[in-house]
Amino acid sequence: MSVNVKQLAAEKAVEYVKDGMKVGLGTGSTAYWAIRKLGERVAEGLKITAVATSQASEDQARELGIPLVGFGDIDRLDLTIDGADELDGKLQLVKGGGGALLREKIVAMGSERMIVVADESKAVETLGKFPLPVEIVPFACEWTLSDLAKLGCEPVLRRTGDELYKSDNGNYIADCHFGAIHSAPELAKALQGIPGVVEHGLFIGIADFAIIGKSDGSIEVIE
Ligand code: A5P
Repeated sequence: MSVNVKQLAAEKAVEYVKDGMKVGLGTGSTAYWAIRKLGERVAEGLKITAVATSQASEDQARELGIPLVGFGDIDRLDLTIDGADELDGKLQLVKGGGGALLREKIVAMGSERMIVVADESKAVETLGKFPLPVEIVPFACEWTLSDLAKLGCEPVLRRTGDELYKSDNGNYIADCHFGAIHSAPELAKALQGIPGVVEHGLFIGIADFAIIGKSDGSIEVIE
């Protein structure tokens, strides 16, 4: 039987969740397994409160009976568990493949610790093979796309079928094909300088460690 590597990594990360913790729930097909496991543990008596990084994760958590709280009810979180589209040896991440990067960044940066869960295909030497998702406001998006292109990428507005994709925040996602990203901090700074950019999918200095599930059934931890 083949190993579900996403489930393997996600369930390992859930071992770090203890009674009384305030937990950030990530988004995506790996975070899905973490939320599922947390639901099981809550059903067995684990006492936590949680916030979600997307409508999809919120719906999943609600169905599983994970107690959700509003952002006005808590200050910081203890721990966030989330996936990544790419991660390098410095724990720099590309996120936003599922379109939730803004909420994911707010939640991860409001957490004492962030654990990344991923399968081995996500661990790369150099970021950039996965097009960098950038959340942009619909207003004057043509100008924002042209500013993005000036940074040396080919931005493509994400679509769902014939429609432009909209994030949970009502914004567009530009998937930016940069190729190899040699300095993520420099690129992050340049992206932040574009007024139509709400947030970008580079997570630098945010993740504390990553749990990587491997097809041989083992786990690698990147710190
Ligand atoms: C969601 O916006 C993303 O940042 C996801 O966390 C990331 O795309 C990883 O998703 P998978 O676990 O589905 O690959």
